[in-house]
Amino acid sequence: MDITVAKFNQRCAKAEKEVERLAAKIAALSEGQVEALEGDEGFEDKELAALVAENRKLKYRQQILNRSVKEVRACGSRIPLGPGMINIIDQLTRLFTASVQDTAPQVKNPNVQITLSKVADYQCNAAMSIGKVLKKKPQDIAKDIVANLPSCPLVEKAEISGPGFINIYLSGEYIRQQVTNIILNGVMPPPVEKKNVVIDFSSPNIAKEMHVGHLRSTIIGDSIARLLEFLGHDVLRLNHLGDWGTQFGMLIAHLQDEFPDFATNTPPIGDLQAFYKQSKKRFDEDEPFKKRAYEAVVQLQAHNPVHIKGWEQICAVSRKEFQKVYERLDIKLIDRGESFYQSRMESLVKDLTNRGILEEDEGRKIMHAEGARIPMTVVKSDGGFTYDTSDLACLKQRVEEEKSNWIIYVTDAGQAEHFQSLFACAKRAGIWNPAKVRIDHVPFGVVLGEDRKKFKTRSGETVRLVDLLDEGVHRAQEKEVKEKSLSKDETKKAQEAVAYGCIKYADLSHDRARDYVFSFDRMLDDKGNTAVYLLYALTRIRSIARTAGISTESIEAEARKGPMPLDHEKEWKLAKTLLKLPEVLTKITQDLFLHPLCEYLYEVSTVFSEFYDKCYCVEKDKEGNIVKINYNRLLLCEATAIVMAQCFSILGIKTVHKM
Ligand code: ARG
Repeated sequence: MDITVAKFNQRCAKAEKEVERLAAKIAALSEGQVEALEGDEGFEDKELAALVAENRKLKYRQQILNRSVKEVRACGSRIPLGPGMINIIDQLTRLFTASVQDTAPQVKNPNVQITLSKVADYQCNAAMSIGKVLKKKPQDIAKDIVANLPSCPLVEKAEISGPGFINIYLSGEYIRQQVTNIILNGVMPPPVEKKNVVIDFSSPNIAKEMHVGHLRSTIIGDSIARLLEFLGHDVLRLNHLGDWGTQFGMLIAHLQDEFPDFATNTPPIGDLQAFYKQSKKRFDEDEPFKKRAYEAVVQLQAHNPVHIKGWEQICAVSRKEFQKVYERLDIKLIDRGESFYQSRMESLVKDLTNRGILEEDEGRKIMHAEGARIPMTVVKSDGGFTYDTSDLACLKQRVEEEKSNWIIYVTDAGQAEHFQSLFACAKRAGIWNPAKVRIDHVPFGVVLGEDRKKFKTRSGETVRLVDLLDEGVHRAQEKEVKEKSLSKDETKKAQEAVAYGCIKYADLSHDRARDYVFSFDRMLDDKGNTAVYLLYALTRIRSIARTAGISTESIEAEARKGPMPLDHEKEWKLAKTLLKLPEVLTKITQDLFLHPLCEYLYEVSTVFSEFYDKCYCVEKDKEGNIVKINYNRLLLCEATAIVMAQCFSILGIKTVHKM
């Protein structure tokens, strides 16, 4: 496109020169001679006439080309913008940036911010700051920005208001078409540059309890994974299990005593936690046992088949327990524990040693790096590896073998320093190039009980996750889901959806960086920004058409007829709110905070209520007979339900058709 324009510009310039040359010739002529030259077509002189005409044509073509270049630059594509939803703020920013660049090319990196407007739909205040820089009236700059604005199907008009603000009005045609698209195609995400993402979340430790911290990691990590999958990235969900370490020595030694035939018969360990506690007690109190435990570690790391078998059995019991939680919460994860990196740790340590990167420190081998507040312990004084070693080897594996260019770690904020050191050391060791691979540590705060102290049971024990989920279901049974028309199975499903949905939503709707108070009463409240309220709202919206006996098919058929009218102010507001979803998705993808998505979901339901209060969808007479169906409004209901369901799906929350 640019090449074509450049060619045209050249030809225009050439033609202009010719015209100039001939004009000079004309200027040298007497008046009578000029008159003689001009005929009906303007110029008698054929050469001159042809040039003038060509020049005019070229200039016209040039204008058109410049315009379409601007459009393409601004919109990414020509009209229409395609079925995928677009990020309206982004698109407007691009449009106005193009115009600002044309208006004030001398201003480098102008700050073009688009914000929501109370009067119009959006607003651009760029003229104010540019006016200051250029010492010109912002109003005049604003006029030029509006005049230079490339045409785009998104914008109906842009108007100057006050001292130089620009009010932007979205095109009704465009909004209507987008809402129709949602109904016919579902929510299609805005296009992204596809990445190979590894997300490391949940990651409990074998034979130790999976606590509420792991629950948070599981919920937040799963939601981020769902978000990125929805956007079209390639996502590898990894459970970085703590399955390799000195604790296995005592566990295997204890296993040998308790279940001597463990190699042939799967040990019936019911409560691995109790088993862990018993072996720890022996380890602390019984000297010969302690010695055997140490020997067992050496044997395990030397891959003695008997010890490996014992280790496998213990891991299997643990995993089965974890799996129960994942199944209930509908979480998909691939187990890849620390043990996976054993051979990689060995070669990494060799490499780091050869390159002289490791330092001796009281028998340990440590690694410093710029930006690491604490050094990493790569080899312990007994020669063993640590959490640090496995994370270094693991990061290398993810970059080199998984070819990942986006790695995300979801853990409690207490590990922030560990990750800071890990990333700094990985950079120093040449494992990680920040220009090529995005890495995020996604930290979260601790879970507190309603007394604002560490989350514990009444008797002071740490809360087992399975018990917590049971209690959630129990509370949901007591409180919600009394719909009579539901079958037993449906009721159970609805109760579980509510219970787990509430637990997830309570977590995700809070700023994850802060500590959060776990309260069943609050999360099961049917008012306010809670899952119960929102799930109810969604089932109600979904039932509007159904109660009136109108099928989804006929709604879709209606949508296929073409964009629906949106005349009422509340219809318009609801439609615009629905189209804000991509903006929210872009934002949460940047910083990986999910609570704005929950806020958005709540906003949609609130705006929907306003709409539903003022706009009848199905009108009935006194006897309750339907007298009028406002299909455009039913279409809005349908689009609202689709958008809400999409948000729930990203949050990992199951919706129910009846509750
Ligand atoms: N197992 C660790 C814990 O329970 C979390 C592991 C996180 N992932 C990692 N690559 N370090 O705290």
